[in-house]
Amino acid sequence: MNRICDTTRPIRWGILGTGYIARLFAQALRSVKDADLVAVGSRTQAAADAFAKDFGIRKRHASYAALAADPDVDIVYIATPHALHKDNSILCLNAGKAVLCEKPFCINRAQAEEVIHVATQNKRFLMEAMWTRFIPAVQQATTWIREGAIGEVRMVQASFGFRDHEDKLFDPALGGGSLLDVGIYPITLAHLAFGKSPARIESMAWRGRGGVDEQAGMLLGYEGGGIAVLASAIQTQTPHEAFIMGTEGMIRLHDTFWNATQVSLVPAEGAPTTLNFPHACNGYEYEAQEAHACLRAGRLESETMPHRVTLEILDSLDSIRAQWGLSYPME
Ligand SMILES: NC(=O)c1ccc[n+]([C@@H]2O[C@H](COP(=O)([O-])OP(=O)(O)OC[C@H]3O[C@@H](n4cnc5c(N)ncnc54)[C@H](OP(=O)(O)O)[C@@H]3O)[C@@H](O)[C@H]2O)c1
Repeated sequence: MNRICDTTRPIRWGILGTGYIARLFAQALRSVKDADLVAVGSRTQAAADAFAKDFGIRKRHASYAALAADPDVDIVYIATPHALHKDNSILCLNAGKAVLCEKPFCINRAQAEEVIHVATQNKRFLMEAMWTRFIPAVQQATTWIREGAIGEVRMVQASFGFRDHEDKLFDPALGGGSLLDVGIYPITLAHLAFGKSPARIESMAWRGRGGVDEQAGMLLGYEGGGIAVLASAIQTQTPHEAFIMGTEGMIRLHDTFWNATQVSLVPAEGAPTTLNFPHACNGYEYEAQEAHACLRAGRLESETMPHRVTLEILDSLDSIRAQWGLSYPME
């Protein structure tokens, strides 16, 4: 039996990068059954050592290549800035590792196709870490939609905007801007609600520091007349509730919609229902559980976050940036 399918043995994780999200994911792994965080890789020994000390990790690598080559690692979680996802994922896949890569999966569709090709060639599991798709309250929303609880979906309203001054968010070389950093969440929600890509997109951005989009408004139009009204921002705080409106009612994903712990069904007639789904840890545990389920079953991609959807979301991001004439140096 393949080691990874042997349920008597833990799944051995490595984390590539030691920044903000890497720490949250390391915390989440502690709550995932059968997960063993065995290694971390950083550009520097000091950062690897500090991270490893905080999370009790045995193996501390001073390069990403050393982590990728570590024979004790089954799957690597990529937690570097967007612009590095392609190279970091390919490095690990070519070393025979499965990969869970942070969102946005890549800078654009062409990069993502390259990574998926390498995963297919190496027969390795690969998934975008779009945690929203695995959040129980969001899954409840999609169940209600599928069951027809709000009739036919007609509109989605969602925005993700916050104020941050970190340089990386404004650096074109790192794929800066609001769209790739946070706009991907409302776009993902619209994709979940309508179950497909938009037929048409109209958008507008304000390009400030670094020439990247500090804020953006997007209108997505779907065959049959569905419309999504979406916004993203990195210099402006926006509301963080989201609404999915149908012919017979509405679903409200409470603040913060992308990792909501509360969701309401508001029927056109009758009393609303509100359900609570407290996270087992911090919300990142669900995507890790999905990776485990796929690995144990020998699947190379997730049905909930398939490669096709990663590419469809990137199609939307690519089209929107093309409307603004915003391209990155590596494109
Ligand atoms: N799912 C979510 O909720 C969520 C939340 C936040 C971010 N993210 C995604 O996760 C990724 C990382 O975001 P983050 O907020 O964790 O970033 P961060 O705090 O800046 O950490 C990124 C890490 O990547 C490594 N790195 C390699 N090259 C780098 C470079 N040129 N500049 C900066 N760091 C570099 C560094 O680790 P070493 O020094 O150890 O090599 C750094 O600590 C992004 O793609 C972001 O979109 C997802």
